Amino acid sequence: MDDHIVLQKISDLPQNLIAKYDLLSEKFEKNFDQKPEFFARAPGRVNIIGEHIDYCGYSVLPMAIEHDIIIAASLNNNYDLIVTNYEEKYNNFKSKTNQIEINKDKPNWFDYFLSGHKGILDKFNLEYSKGLNICVWGCVPKSAGLSSSSALVVCSALTTLYANKLELSKSDLAETCAMAERYVGTQGGGMDQAISCLGQTGSAKLIDFNPLRVHNINLPEGSQFVITNSCVEANKAATNQFNTRVAECRIATQILAKSQGLNWRKIKKPIDLQKSLNSSLSELIELIDLVLHKEPYSMDEVCRILETTQQELILNSLTQNTSNLKEFQLYARLMHVFSEAKRVYDFRDACLLESSAAFEAMGQLMNQSHESCRALYDCSCEELDELTQICRESGAYGSRLTGAGWGGCAVSLIPKDKIDSFFKSVKERYYDKNDRLKALFSESVFSTKPSSGINIIIL
Ligand code: GLA
Repeated sequence: MDDHIVLQKISDLPQNLIAKYDLLSEKFEKNFDQKPEFFARAPGRVNIIGEHIDYCGYSVLPMAIEHDIIIAASLNNNYDLIVTNYEEKYNNFKSKTNQIEINKDKPNWFDYFLSGHKGILDKFNLEYSKGLNICVWGCVPKSAGLSSSSALVVCSALTTLYANKLELSKSDLAETCAMAERYVGTQGGGMDQAISCLGQTGSAKLIDFNPLRVHNINLPEGSQFVITNSCVEANKAATNQFNTRVAECRIATQILAKSQGLNWRKIKKPIDLQKSLNSSLSELIELIDLVLHKEPYSMDEVCRILETTQQELILNSLTQNTSNLKEFQLYARLMHVFSEAKRVYDFRDACLLESSAAFEAMGQLMNQSHESCRALYDCSCEELDELTQICRESGAYGSRLTGAGWGGCAVSLIPKDKIDSFFKSVKERYYDKNDRLKALFSESVFSTKPSSGINIIIL
């Protein structure tokens, strides 16, 4: 794979994009009284299938979208880090580059910038960066499951990297950013940063982790993905639901590991268990049925089974904001993980079928994935269930929530020739329900195609 960060001249961009960069430049000049020296760009993503399994070690299948974050930057000689936003409603940030404090509990928008920045300093063991003047502009819908926060983390890291004349491959940058985003709270798995860095025009990606590997998935001719925003805000850092799922998967895996005579303390992710047992995903699904019960587990019960103390469990298996959990859903969560991991490979294989069979199979897998997110992983919400159902009834082969869930967007696979009637039907049935949704329709429903990952734009 091409793993080099590409520098592109602004004059080589299409005219409509140049206009966008000109506007950002103007704003930058207003804020800093000088022109930007360069721009960095990082896209959002839509995950087509493979939800909540990257942090379990399993492969996922997203594509980068055209919506991106762009940062205009110049250097200053005072070691100041001054972060501003194109939109005035976002407040500015200023500190010395070696005095950054990230608000993990209640992140502000610029804390995502700071995480990316700190990620690069830590990676290169640097105490401070060159001074930076920054203006951020973004069109990735916020709190919508399209990874606006990771795009900002990646874009910030890319800016810091380039400004300090440091070098990393795109894969290394993606891994650095995946770690860095944890400074803001959630224990994500690396998909968002990987696709933002390694996305490519024209092809979705199958992403493997540990080591990070990216494979092209050529979607069958005539496939069209449409994104529909439920307009329910999905802010994964605002609650502990996300990290609770991470903890539940870990504990469920450790109980299975113990039942098979393995040292459970060494098994952190479902994939570690699979590798240790050398089992297929189907065999692991059978094992869940044999070992775990469907009712929730109490902390006491988990400790009893693992023959450990609460303190040790907290240390080994829980995270900062999950140490107070009283109950764990183990059966359902792990069942989702193994079955979803299998669906990703089935989806990859379905893409190779002849087109109408391919669409049917891909659509079915997307529907099954949504159902599993709803019923087993409990990461959907009523509005997403309703919206995906409307999308199916409006002609989609398949429709599912995308991203962390609990609100945000759905992604649907649509026959190209049904796009107009699909938009019309979804508008009438979901968005025309009230004035708020009516007003949001035009920005909430759009077709998307695989787009390119990060780059630096020079003048
Ligand atoms: C968020 C995380 C990702 C992934 C998805 C769910 O976007 O950042 O790493 O876990 O949720 O699939």
